[in-house]
Amino acid sequence: MKVTVAETAGFCFGVKRAVDTVYRQIEESPLPVYTYGPIIHNEVVVKELAEKGVHVIRDDEELTALAEGTVIIRSHGVSKAVLESLDRPGIRLVDATCPFVEKIHRIAAEETRAGKTLVIAGNPEHPEVIGIKGWAEGPCYVIQSAEDFTALNLDKSTPVALVAQTTFDYKKFEKIVEILASLDYNIQDWSTVCKATEARQTEARNLAGEVDAMIVIGDIHSSNTQKLYEICKHTCKCSYFIETLVDLETQPFQSFCHVGITAGASTPKHLIEEVQNYVRCKF
Ligand code: F3S
Repeated sequence: MKVTVAETAGFCFGVKRAVDTVYRQIEESPLPVYTYGPIIHNEVVVKELAEKGVHVIRDDEELTALAEGTVIIRSHGVSKAVLESLDRPGIRLVDATCPFVEKIHRIAAEETRAGKTLVIAGNPEHPEVIGIKGWAEGPCYVIQSAEDFTALNLDKSTPVALVAQTTFDYKKFEKIVEILASLDYNIQDWSTVCKATEARQTEARNLAGEVDAMIVIGDIHSSNTQKLYEICKHTCKCSYFIETLVDLETQPFQSFCHVGITAGASTPKHLIEEVQNYVRCKF
């Protein structure tokens, strides 16, 4: 069986930076280490960090109650209010927000300050989107399609700044921009889908077109992994979404001539290697 692993599979720059930050703080921090939310959407990594004493703050209430500690902001970023609430005695703030997400925060603040309505193409429940909303200084909406946008019933003259969640399907974003331009809305779009996401999605789409089966590895809660799976499934009917090797062992995975493997931005290298070795040796 031929096995091809996507070159873009696994940790992106921002996730690697955030995870490395936590490991560094475990060594360097004079105070107990906390992450605001799990550092990445990957239970395996979060469990490993918990064993090293890293605590996860689950909500704002826990954050407000924290009297002392080093608090690490993950790559998804947070709202301006959360960031400001951490500027208090007893708290050491370590901000690992990905610079590409910070750029969207800047756009959100500047454009809404200039009087534009902010529209974010993304998942309204995703922490990154909640964080971006928290930088808007005026009206802000979240959409997932051009239909969602028109349903907002905005006046066509309303100046709108349209941004995308970094892991949004870039082809879908382009489509939304194209449709809204044809409807004569007053929109300035910012192509904020992360290049790493774009490259991973393009490679997954191409690879899925060449193989008989695709394996997508990542946490079930990882939105970028879910997107990858949707993209692969669209092109290759035999696509499998697994969190770890155990899932593959329990799936009716048969022998194929050519198998492709990709993984979300928060999937550690060793999980990818385990799956790759299993598929190579077993079939
Ligand atoms: Fe940053 Fe892009 Fe990763 S926005 S966290 S490098 S997917």
